[in-house]
Amino acid sequence: MFSKELISKFEGTPTPFYYYDMALLRRTLDSLQTAADKYGYKIHYAVKANANPEILKTIASYGFGADCVSGNEVLMAVECGFPSDKIVFAGVGKSDKEINDALANDIFCFNCESVQEIQVINQLAAQNGKIAKIALRLNPGIDAHTNKCINTGLEDSKFGINFNLLEEVVKEIVVLNNIKLVGLHYHIGSQITDLEPYRLLCNRSNEMQQKLQLLGLNLPEINLGGGLGIDYDDPDANPIPNFETLLDTIHENLDVKKGQRVHFEFGRAVVAQCGTMIARVLYTKKASKTTFAIVDAGFNDLIRPALYGAHHRIENLSSTSDQEGIYDVVGPICESTDVFEQAYKMPVTQRGDLLAFRSAGAYGEIMASRYNLRNLAKSYFFD
Ligand code: LLP
Repeated sequence: MFSKELISKFEGTPTPFYYYDMALLRRTLDSLQTAADKYGYKIHYAVKANANPEILKTIASYGFGADCVSGNEVLMAVECGFPSDKIVFAGVGKSDKEINDALANDIFCFNCESVQEIQVINQLAAQNGKIAKIALRLNPGIDAHTNKCINTGLEDSKFGINFNLLEEVVKEIVVLNNIKLVGLHYHIGSQITDLEPYRLLCNRSNEMQQKLQLLGLNLPEINLGGGLGIDYDDPDANPIPNFETLLDTIHENLDVKKGQRVHFEFGRAVVAQCGTMIARVLYTKKASKTTFAIVDAGFNDLIRPALYGAHHRIENLSSTSDQEGIYDVVGPICESTDVFEQAYKMPVTQRGDLLAFRSAGAYGEIMASRYNLRNLAKSYFFD
């Protein structure tokens, strides 16, 4: 994937940095658009995965909506060209200021996670002379079979409203004058590589629709959230996630009434593969059982391995050795969890080598911090 010509362009650029393949991003967006258009599904890009303005502007240019989880994400999405009336706003803890910012921008819908939150939105909407459109984020009680840190649809997770409480909550909120209930929202987790949880989600959605009908409600919006996983092991073999198979599965399993719209909020699947973190090897050193390759990027630059035990494929872009070595690839941060990989096979690696940490476009740059007072990595865009 990295040609000699491209690698030569990296020389002289201070490391670590994020490299984005914008042609791949566009091919991914084309593929998503084709898959969604087949059924008229509405796509909202989950801004949390990567809020770099260049990336946001490119995604917005396709006419997609945005899924935001903070007031600042709403403001940034608007600034980067997402139409306000295609913005959804989720989150268990929306502050009054964030709600007011979203109201001021007339967003499409608040995805609400508690009755109290809905009461506050109602009150703030009344103060602003507005009617806020809301969807209930239901916790469907489904195991997404993914890393436990990013499994969000289990009954006791902090997200959403327990699906068993649907009727009770609806009765409590329909009396409020400054909100309009327009739909149901779900999000069962992230990096989901198995279609079964999505089938279960469709069943749950169908069941919830029936309950609503018994209450005399036919809500126009169904939002199934995001979560589609990507291939971290072999990004070159699978650079574009299979949106089509997922959306075909949804189409086969989801009851959609006339006039209803189906929404999705993909983050990782859109941006993960187009991003790579490039770092340089500072030192190598031997210990009794291992050899360390110490790189100039730490978990402040890419936190997924330290936080979730996630794996990013690492490629040595400059080694010319035909011998292999086994390395613990670690960062410079003064914490023992600053480890990218242990016992990792790479061509013999030495000081000065450039390493590519693949599939880092989602939840990479955006989760960076200045821990240890390190600089934030810059980003570069190539076509
Ligand atoms: N919608 C909602 C309400 C969400 O909470 C999320 C992600 C998404 C959509 C987008 O999910 P995606 O399509 O990207 O899977 N930092 C973690 C992932 C956290 C996901 C949080 N919510 C990681 O690096 O794996």
